[in-house]
Amino acid sequence: MAPEEKTRKASQDSAGPQKPSSPGPDSQGPGQEGQAGRRPAAPASLIEQLASRGYGSVDDFVDARLVEDLRTRCQSLHASGNLRPARIGRGSQERVEPQVRGDFIAWLSEPELDAEQRLLSRLEDLRVDLNRGLMAGLEDFQGHFAVYPPGAAYARHIDRLVGTDVRAISVALYLNEAWSEADGGILRIHTGATGPHDVLPVGGRLVAFLSDRFEHEVLPSRRERLSFTGWFRRRPLEGYV
Ligand code: OGA
Ligand code: MN
Repeated sequence: MAPEEKTRKASQDSAGPQKPSSPGPDSQGPGQEGQAGRRPAAPASLIEQLASRGYGSVDDFVDARLVEDLRTRCQSLHASGNLRPARIGRGSQERVEPQVRGDFIAWLSEPELDAEQRLLSRLEDLRVDLNRGLMAGLEDFQGHFAVYPPGAAYARHIDRLVGTDVRAISVALYLNEAWSEADGGILRIHTGATGPHDVLPVGGRLVAFLSDRFEHEVLPSRRERLSFTGWFRRRPLEGYV
């Protein structure tokens, strides 16, 4: 059977790490610069884009040095065999299917490096700003490094998982050096009325979108494509009863 047969239908990805590490709603995080230190505000434009159309992107979400450190980390995790083929489906349906999803991932639960800690703390700042700006009610974050080897793609899918899922906002921070259109690997967000919105995975660029709203896909990459991808989550409804 042609692979398109399977990939045409929007699929859903797997449920995430076995044991997600949740900083919890009230976790302050260590903070990099202390109380008096200036933290870069979440780009207002990102919040505005999310508010007005449900998706958006911003460049230089973290500084170039941090992008480089994270890229190095991602590459070394890959080189040391610490990335695993990403899975799709849930429960008994969970499986590796490279024709549908060809990336390799490593969940970041416990940050080991300063660069990882800085990334998580930047994302924690973003969580707070999203809650303030959008009343989003985001409780925690869960994310993974991802490597798409040349030729890999991720077929059209939606991030929210049926039933149990609490993913509210999907984000991807790209870690690539000098990416051009010819390298492929574009994130295509299917926005409905206005047609697809394409995002080039340029290093330092952060894309965000409402997890339950948009089907999206990663077009085949011609180069190794590196990212850190994750989800801000809400508390499951069951948590309140
Ligand atoms: C995902 C995903 C998009 C990207 O991991 O679910 O859609 O651009 N990633 O890497
Ligand atoms: Mn996705």
